[in-house]
Amino acid sequence: MTANSLTIRDNRNGKEVELPIIDGTMGPGVVDITNFYKEFGLFTLDPGFRSTASCNSKITFIDGDKGILLYRGYPIDQLAEQSSHLEVCYLLLNGELPNKKQFEEFSHTVTHHTMLHEQMAFLFRGYRRDAHPMAIMVGVVGALSAFYHDSLDLRNPRHREVSAFRLIAKMPTIAAFSYKYSVGQPFVYPCNRLGYSENLLHMLFSVPCDNYVVSPVLAKALDQVLILHADHEQNASTSTVRLAGSSQANPFAAASAGIGALWGPAHGGANEAVLKMLHEIGDEDHIGDYIKRAKDPHDPFRLMGFGHRVYKNYDPRARILRKAAYEVLGELGRGDDPLFRVALKLEKIALEDDYFVSKKLYPNVDFYSGLILSAMGIPTNMFTVIFSVARTVGWITQWKEMISEEGQAISRPRQLYTGEVHRDYVPIYQRK
Ligand code: SDX
Repeated sequence: MTANSLTIRDNRNGKEVELPIIDGTMGPGVVDITNFYKEFGLFTLDPGFRSTASCNSKITFIDGDKGILLYRGYPIDQLAEQSSHLEVCYLLLNGELPNKKQFEEFSHTVTHHTMLHEQMAFLFRGYRRDAHPMAIMVGVVGALSAFYHDSLDLRNPRHREVSAFRLIAKMPTIAAFSYKYSVGQPFVYPCNRLGYSENLLHMLFSVPCDNYVVSPVLAKALDQVLILHADHEQNASTSTVRLAGSSQANPFAAASAGIGALWGPAHGGANEAVLKMLHEIGDEDHIGDYIKRAKDPHDPFRLMGFGHRVYKNYDPRARILRKAAYEVLGELGRGDDPLFRVALKLEKIALEDDYFVSKKLYPNVDFYSGLILSAMGIPTNMFTVIFSVARTVGWITQWKEMISEEGQAISRPRQLYTGEVHRDYVPIYQRK
């Protein structure tokens, strides 16, 4: 019997098997159950994967109890304060911070991939003007594989790298085009002399008949929002990208699947749901009613922007965004923004309420991000689109880690079958 193992005993027949425990560099170790079915003829069951590690990864580390988030070992608060989204993209993709030359080359490459094939403009026009921009993102990102099939040989590391550049570079353009289409304004092309977040604001808010000057404060705040949303280990959308990519589907199709998963209000769609909830609450006097509803097990209402599968402490990203919200609203002369006041009061009440304290429901990344994006003039239905722009680097980095893994195989979980046992077909004339 080795020290670093679990001995599992099958009490039906007394069979005992040692399963190895594998420790990582940080966080909980894992018990390797690769041979569990072969040894016991049983599957393990873990709906929602609360106790299941789906892979080993070197990219992002989260300690939910301590509220720690590291990208390639660097604390999120240091990156949010001192780095830029493009530099964080390099860090996540390559595992190290770039030197000056490396960053200049990376930045030049991404900047010169920001345009879309001109034919793609017609894709947007196939949607109703009132289509949710996330519906457009799912479609257009998946369609990238119809235009950029010269970099889809997944066995070729150079192709994997080019696809990563293309996705990171083109997501802001696709996001901005989906917004412009929804408001009936002409598409604004990317401008290569602008930084990544500046360019996104430029493409969102410039119009042909006016000279839109990007506010450095807003560009910095948006860049910080992108950094904070860039990756988050094996969350629902990233796991979707990994699973879709495990079938050797191209990275654009895998990213499109990730966008679909992110859209849900339990995941990346929460930032849009938070703003809707704050508008619905309206003012501080109504907060009590909503807290009551959130606590009622018979009421499906949940306090959007609260709770997290991993963080059982304050989400470190929410803490940074709360500070940024103060700064942006203050900069825009909206420090007394009524929604922000409701959010602060709601947070205070929830953090003192035993229901939320006992269930360790703290504000998460989505609680404040919407307030900042809204203050920038970004409409609510674009919040999750911005999240998808940010998370693209996480998705493609996790996809690259998965696809280049030794012995990479298709992800194909099993099930506990509880349906009908075998029965024979009955012709319709014999049925009652
Ligand atoms: C993101 O995974 C990631 O990393 C995601 C993300 C990322 O960067 O990729 O961090 C981004 O998705 C953040 C989460 C955004 N979602 C929301 O803000 C939606 C509101 N939150 C809930 O839907 C919920 O908290 C989840 C989905 C986030 C987490 O759900 P879990 O882990 O499955 O928790 P649970 O549903 O088991 O809840 C535990 C208990 C339950 O009560 P009991 O069954 O124990 O009685 O807490 C309650 C829940 O009813 N609860 C809430 C609540 N969240 C959980 N009650 C009221 N309001 C809430 N928000």
